[in-house]
Amino acid sequence: MPYAHITGWGMSVPSKVLTNDDISKMVDTNDEWIRERTGIRERRIAEERQSSATLGAEASIEALKIAGLLPTDIDLIICSTSTPEHIFPATACIIQDKIGATRAGAFDLSAACSGFIYGLNMAALAIRSGSNKNVLVIGTETLSRFIDWKDRNTCILFGDGAGAFVLQASEQPGGAYGAVMHSDGSGGDLLTIPAGGSRNPTSELTLRTGMHFIHMDGKEVFRFATRVMAGATNEAVEKSGWKLDQVDLVVPHQANLRIIEAAARGLKMPMDKFMVNLDRYGNTSTASIPIAAVEAVQQGKLRPGDKVVFVGFGAGLTWGALAAEWTGPKQATRRVVKLEWFPWIAPIRSFLRRLGRAIEGIIFGRKS
Ligand code: UT7
Repeated sequence: MPYAHITGWGMSVPSKVLTNDDISKMVDTNDEWIRERTGIRERRIAEERQSSATLGAEASIEALKIAGLLPTDIDLIICSTSTPEHIFPATACIIQDKIGATRAGAFDLSAACSGFIYGLNMAALAIRSGSNKNVLVIGTETLSRFIDWKDRNTCILFGDGAGAFVLQASEQPGGAYGAVMHSDGSGGDLLTIPAGGSRNPTSELTLRTGMHFIHMDGKEVFRFATRVMAGATNEAVEKSGWKLDQVDLVVPHQANLRIIEAAARGLKMPMDKFMVNLDRYGNTSTASIPIAAVEAVQQGKLRPGDKVVFVGFGAGLTWGALAAEWTGPKQATRRVVKLEWFPWIAPIRSFLRRLGRAIEGIIFGRKS
């Protein structure tokens, strides 16, 4: 049975920064309260031209560069997002087209902030079953488009960004090991965008009452999160046949520093074993774990051979964890690739396919 190694990683965040002071000009809050209650100092906000697909595509290209693969080497794309481009088509398909991953199947995964862990686990299982060799997992969000900027309970927390991992099959032991995925739909109303789906289609009423924005019971979500983080980490570690003290780094969902500190206390692990970067990005939902992992690598906190646990929680309710032995890029098999060309070639290819379909439509339309 092949192992599923993480051989590429990338991130993309908008350059526009929104500080706590900026938010204090919009709602009744202040920098001190936000920092003390959440640990967040600033977050990134997408420009008009940016979206979940553009950020996700940029993160994917970065991840492919590190893995030394071309988009055409990818056979499956799993895109986790709670802020998709549309209800359908899937954001994964839009990214597939943008990067020119012409051989890949592509689908979206909806498990909110736990989505990247769910996606990683699905990718690892697809590889371990022998069904796929090279899988791209993306976590991408433009949460700023779904925030009520008059609601101080939510607007202080969230930010935009994307992260991506490449997973590859290998006979060498390592990569993804034990994982757990949990859910409790009875808590679905604690964190939700109530309208815009089939239950409450968009209407004048849903717009007037702000049902198309994120609604959250912060206290209850906080309680739930502190309850499940340590447990899920322990489960993934046990499933891997490891002991907790063998874990080099935990990369938790970046929602609130107090939640991460509670998890550290629950696990009796020092805080320096937890990657934290929420001060600069806020909560980017499903993108927070891969963004934190990329920065952990950049800061030398996550090195080849390290035992790492990714753990998260979110709307659904969902929660989960995945333990992995960090592989790093497979230098020996790295090819010299013209990856830089793909973001230019892919739109031309996409245009030609649309043109071909239009011409076909004219020809067959005339015949029928
Ligand atoms: O990916 C999952 C996403 N969600 C989460 O992870 C959210 C988890 N929950 C949290 O992080 C926290 O519950 C919050 C940061 C949302 C809120 O922190 P809290 O310590 O639970 O505050 P609270 O809701 O208990 O409010 C305490 C006080 C209240 O005032 P009173 O009633 O004590 O006078 C609030 O009205 O703070 C007030 N408050 C604020 N004050 C200034 C609430 N929000 C703000 C604010 N600025 N933004």
